[in-house]
Parts: sequence; structure tokens; C-alpha cells
Amino acid sequence: MSNLITWQDSYSLGMDEIDDQHQFLFQIMNRIWHAIVQRADVGTVVSLIEELEQYTIAHFTAEETYLRMIRYPGFDVHKQAHQGFISRVAVEKQSILAGNSITLDLLHFLKDWLVNHILVVDRHYADYSEQNRGDGSILGKLGLLFGWTGKKRADKSEVGKNAKELQGLDLSKAIDAHVQWKARLNGVLEGADKEPIDIGQASRDDCCTLGKWLHGPARELFGQYPEYEALRSTHASFHRCAGQVLLEFNKSGKASAQKMLQGEFTSVSSQVHLDLVGLYVAVKKIPADE
Ligand code: FEO
Repeated sequence: MSNLITWQDSYSLGMDEIDDQHQFLFQIMNRIWHAIVQRADVGTVVSLIEELEQYTIAHFTAEETYLRMIRYPGFDVHKQAHQGFISRVAVEKQSILAGNSITLDLLHFLKDWLVNHILVVDRHYADYSEQNRGDGSILGKLGLLFGWTGKKRADKSEVGKNAKELQGLDLSKAIDAHVQWKARLNGVLEGADKEPIDIGQASRDDCCTLGKWLHGPARELFGQYPEYEALRSTHASFHRCAGQVLLEFNKSGKASAQKMLQGEFTSVSSQVHLDLVGLYVAVKKIPADE
């Protein structure tokens, strides 16, 4: 069966994390499309709509935090567009719950909105970010940490070469390690990961490299910074959430664990990256308009 929407290279903003989130939104749209074409029951459709709702909120929150950090001038208009989409999805969900059937026209509307938003509205901030970054600028530093490489994806060695150090912590490696957590958890949920993950270990925030650093030298060095506390707290939430995904998988199975992984976990994972950048910027005393 054909898909509703297919990812094309022209949709890429050149920011790995954001591109991955956009591609996941496409996947959810296609699953809704398939469910409708196959005349799935109302409960299945509502559950998929809820997944779309939760994932868009997680993605929009991550994107808006990034836009705030780079002081994007079109922030308010961009946020309004996000809120409009979230409201529309919420209204449609209520309508389906009230007994109305979801139409293919609605799905085409959602698809067109999403493609237009990525190609036009999101592209504006990507262009702004690219135009304002420069060697040593705040946007350049943020861009490296987010895998930003302009219109083309980075070769990992290029990113590695520019990795930023923060008192013994390699920020790019710390971010990569946390991105890999999602792939590992997904492997467990999909039955592809033969190596079991210990739930107690996954839930602890002082075992990974970043955790050891946060509970060790960083506490001494940066404990007085509010950005340190923000990162420590978000990182603890990240590991708590990783443990909850595994518990949910054991208790209720793949579907609800996947929902948690793509919603709450994805959101807190993005926040860890942003808080890492926030601490870096604060410690290095980088003025926002540098
Ligand atoms: Fe990627 Fe503005 O949504």
C-alpha cells in the first residue's frame, strides 16, 4: 500500500535531530493513513491521533526552545503556527471521540500543513540560523552541538573535529551518547536488541559519562550556576523516563512503551541537549549577540 507522505531530501533542514523528528511525524501520518484505508476501529485511530498530538507537542517544544536560544526574530509567529496545528489536531480528536469519522480530506490537510510548515516556516529559522552563524559565534557553537551543518548533513568526523570541551566533558560525545539511548530502547521494544538493559541502571543519573561528570567535577565547578541545576534535573528526568519506558514495556507491551518513547522521552532528551548547551554558554560567558 502506498504512503500518504514520503520524505524527500529537499525537506531536510540540515539539522539531524530536527530532521529525524520531522521524519518521525511523517511515519505517524502514514500509520494514520493506513489505519483509515484499512478501516481500523475507532480506538486504533484515536490512539494514533493521540500519538500525533503528543509527538507534535514534543517536537514543537524542542524546536521552540532552540528558537528561543538563538533569539529567532520570528519566534512568536512560529509558535502561533505550532499552536494552531495542535489545536486543530485536538479538535479533530474530540470530533472522532464524539462519533464522527476521520476523513481523508483531513489527513490531506494535515499532510499539506506539515510539508508547507517544514518547507517554508521551519526553513526560515534554518536560514536565519545559517546566516547568523560564523566561526566562534554563539550560533556556530549551538549549531555544532545540534549537528547543524548548513544544507548538507555533516560527516561525523567533521563534527567530532569541532567538538567542544567543557572542563573534561566532550559535549558532542555526551549528546551522541544520549541520542544512542533512544536507539537502544527502541531496539529493546522492537526485539532487535539482544543485550538486555538493566532497568535500575538505566534509571540512575550518576552512571553514564555525563552523570558522573555532573555528580563529580561539575558540581564543584559549576554548582552555583542555575544552568547546572537545570541540566542536573533534566538529566535525572531523562534517566527516570528511560527506566519508565522499560517498565511500561514489561507491564503493558510495545505500543504504550513506544508512545512514551516517542513522546515524553523524546521531549526530555531534546531538553538535555539544550540544557547542556545552556550550561556551556553560561560557563563560557558567551554573550547572546557575540
Ligand atoms: Fe518543525 Fe516548526 O515545526
